[in-house]
Amino acid sequence: MNYTIVASTSRDQSVSSQVAAHYQAILAEIGVQANILDLQDMPVDILETTLYKKVKQPNAAWERMQQLVSATDKFIFIIPEYNGSFPGILKIWVDACKFPDSFKHKKAALLGISDGTQGSALAMGHFADVLNYVGTHTLALRPRLIQIGKNMQDGRVANAEYAMIMRLQAEQLLAF
Ligand SMILES: Cc1cc2nc3c(=O)[nH]c(=O)nc-3n(C[C@H](O)[C@H](O)[C@H](O)COP(=O)(O)O)c2cc1C
Repeated sequence: MNYTIVASTSRDQSVSSQVAAHYQAILAEIGVQANILDLQDMPVDILETTLYKKVKQPNAAWERMQQLVSATDKFIFIIPEYNGSFPGILKIWVDACKFPDSFKHKKAALLGISDGTQGSALAMGHFADVLNYVGTHTLALRPRLIQIGKNMQDGRVANAEYAMIMRLQAEQLLAF
């Protein structure tokens, strides 16, 4: 079973990347080796070469990312709240992924982060609709890590309750 944690933004030095690394460590504690797919590495030139184009040019960097997606059975999406929803780059990524093989009959867990008090609640709802449309089943438990900026220290989630719910979600995803 292949697990991939998606840091769902291309923002420089994102908190999502740090939370993804912490999540990877939690999964390792329960015996799961997970990949990280960071949308900072998204080859955005696919907008010029491939995505939505009638004539598609080869894009080796995208092909490597697609291979990781295709090989993944279970995803964990770290979703930062951007203007009341999920980041646009995440939708570009979904649109670029092979349909329906990338997502059909797969499983996913969603974890929301925000500086405000919603913890990406709406964003996760929006993205769960997209995932369900492309054929991925989503875990019911969707932790909302609110005021994330105040709860990070040295690149890790410093709030014990947040770490506990991440661990609980990881265990549930294992059994899902
Ligand atoms: C473009 C943008 C839009 C944002 N919109 C919201 C928002 O609607 N609600 C909120 O609570 N925080 C919002 N934030 C704050 C982020 O959710 C918060 O800083 C989060 O940690 C950013 O994650 P990142 O570092 O992975 O990008 C926004 C941040 C950015 C960059």
